[in-house]
Amino acid sequence: MKVNNASILASLLSWAYHAEGDEEDAIYYALIDIPPGDDWDSLMKIMRDNEVHKTMLEEAIAILGHKIYKREPRKFDFSGFDRNRILESIAKWEKFAYYYYLYLYRNTEFDNLELEAESIEKLKDIIDSLIKWEKKHIEIVNKLLENFGVRYRII
Ligand SMILES: [Fe+2]
Repeated sequence: MKVNNASILASLLSWAYHAEGDEEDAIYYALIDIPPGDDWDSLMKIMRDNEVHKTMLEEAIAILGHKIYKREPRKFDFSGFDRNRILESIAKWEKFAYYYYLYLYRNTEFDNLELEAESIEKLKDIIDSLIKWEKKHIEIVNKLLENFGVRYRII
C-alpha cells in the first residue's frame, strides 16, 4: 500500500479524525460504567489528548488543502461489561490509532505529494507525534489492565 496523492492522504487522515472522536464517544460511555478513581484519571487524560489529536489532524488536513467531514456521534453500550472488558475495548481503539498512524507514516510517499518542503516537514512531524502519543496511550491502558492482573499486550 502506498499513498502518493494529497487528496487521498487527506481522506485517510479524516478517517483518523473520526476514529479519535469515536474513541471519545466510547470513553464517554465507559465513564458511565466505571467508578471514579485511577481508571477515570487515565481515561480523562486520553479523552483530552484525543481533542488535541483532532486539532493536529485538522491542521494536517488543511496543509493538504482539504477540510474535515462532519462526523456523527456514536453510541456504545458497556452496561453488561465488567471493568476489564470495557478497558479492553478502549485498548482496541488505541491499538488501531497507533498502527493506523504508523502505516500512514511508513507508506506515504511525502515527496510525491506536490507540497512545499516546509509543509511536508510539518505533516511528517504531526503524524510522527501522533504515533508517539498513541504508543503512550497503549502503555496507559496496558497499565490499568495490569493493575488488575490482566495482560493485554498490543505492542
Ligand atoms: Fe489514543
